Amino acid sequence: MYLKKLTLKNFRNYGDLSIEFSPEITFIVGNNGVGKSNIIEAISLTSTMRSFRNIPDIEMIQWGFESYYCSSEIEDSQDRLFEVGCSCQGGKLRKRIKIDGIEIRSISEFYGKFLTVVFAPFDINIINGMPELRRRFTDSVISKTNSHYLSDLSEFRKVLLSRNRFLKLLKEKKNLDMSELDVWDHMFASVSSRIIKARKKFFVELNDLFKNSYKGISDDLEAPDIHYASSIDSDEPDYIIRKLSEIRNKDSIIGSTGIGPQRDDFIIKNHRNINFVNYASQGQRRMAAICLKISECDFIESKTGTKAVIMVDDIFSELDSQRRKNMIKVLKRGNQIIFTMVHQNNADSSGFNASKTYHVSNGGILDELV
Ligand SMILES: Nc1ncnc2c1ncn2[C@@H]1O[C@H](COP(=O)(O)OP(=O)(O)OP(=O)(O)O)[C@@H](O)[C@H]1O
Ligand SMILES: [Mg+2]
Repeated sequence: MYLKKLTLKNFRNYGDLSIEFSPEITFIVGNNGVGKSNIIEAISLTSTMRSFRNIPDIEMIQWGFESYYCSSEIEDSQDRLFEVGCSCQGGKLRKRIKIDGIEIRSISEFYGKFLTVVFAPFDINIINGMPELRRRFTDSVISKTNSHYLSDLSEFRKVLLSRNRFLKLLKEKKNLDMSELDVWDHMFASVSSRIIKARKKFFVELNDLFKNSYKGISDDLEAPDIHYASSIDSDEPDYIIRKLSEIRNKDSIIGSTGIGPQRDDFIIKNHRNINFVNYASQGQRRMAAICLKISECDFIESKTGTKAVIMVDDIFSELDSQRRKNMIKVLKRGNQIIFTMVHQNNADSSGFNASKTYHVSNGGILDELV
C-alpha cells in the first residue's frame, strides 16, 4: 500500500496544496514552524480520522476559514480515495468522511483501511506518560487489524458511560431501581471479557516483536519484556460480574467504575522484574518508544499482509549517530516512508536515498528539489 497524492484545502497553514509522494522514500525538509508536521497530520487524519497529535478538528481549520478538506489517494490492490472534510458553522462542528466517494457512517468502516504508522518525538510519552496513552496506543494498534475489537470498544464506552451515570445518581442518593445496575454489570462484563481477551493475545504477540526490534536497535544485552497489567484477574464474564458486585458500594461512593479495560495498562520490565522507567535513561526510553512503533508495523504486516505507510516526523535529530544508524537499518523494510526533517544534511546522512525531496518554506510553499 502506498500514498500517491495528498490534497489539502484550508488545512492549518495550507490554503491549497497538492503533493505527490514517491512509492519509496520522500523527504520533506524545512525550518521550524513551516508546516512539515501539518502534512503528516493531514495524512494521519485521512487514515485514522483524527490528528496524530490528538488535537481537535476545529484547530486544524485554517484561521479565518470555516472548513478544511483533506484527501489521500492510495495505491493498493486497487486505487482508493480517502476524504475527510470538517466544517464549523455557528459553533456547530460537522465532519464528513468518504471512501471512494461513498460516505462512511461508522468508524469501523473506515479504520484500518488506509494503514499508517507515525513515528513522532512525543512517542516517548507512551513509555513515560499516563496509562491512558498506553491504552490509546494498544487500542489503536489492535483496532487497525481487527474491526470486531473496534466495535467492542465503542460498545464498551457506551456501557461504561451508562454504568457511571447510574453510579453518580446513586451517589446523590436518588431512589433507583437497582436491577438497572445488574443489567449494566452484565453488559459491562461481557464486552470487557472480549476486550481483555483480545488485549492478552495482542501483548503476547507484541512482546515477541518488541524484543526483536529492541535487539536490532539498542546495544543492551537484554531486551525487556512487555507485560499486560489488567485491573481484573480473570477475563471470564462471571468472574467480572462477581468483582463488580463486590466493589459496587465503593463504586457508588466515587461515582465511577473501579475495574475494567478503562483501568488497564502495560508495563515494561527487565528480567530482574524492575520497571523499565525506573532504570532506563532518557535515550533508552526513546529507543523503547521507537521499538514499540516498529513492532506496530510488524504487527500490522503479520495480521493484514500489508506494509503500512510509515511517517517519521523529525525524530532523527534526537538520536545519537549509532542509534540513528541502527534505526535506519530496521526501517529499511520495503514500506513507503515519508520523513520530515529540519536540515538537509540529516536527510543526506539518513542512509536513505530519497526518490522525492520537497523543501517547505514559510507560508506553506512546497518546492520539489530535483
Ligand atoms: N489552524 C491554523 N491555521 C493557520 N496556520 C496554522 C494553524 N495551525 C497551525 N498553524 C501554523 O502551522 C505552523 C506549524 O506547523 P508544523 O507543526 O507543521 O511545523 P513544523 O514544520 O513541523 O515545525 P517543527 O520543525 O518545529 O516541528 C505554525 O507556523 C502555525 O502558526
Ligand atoms: Mg514538526
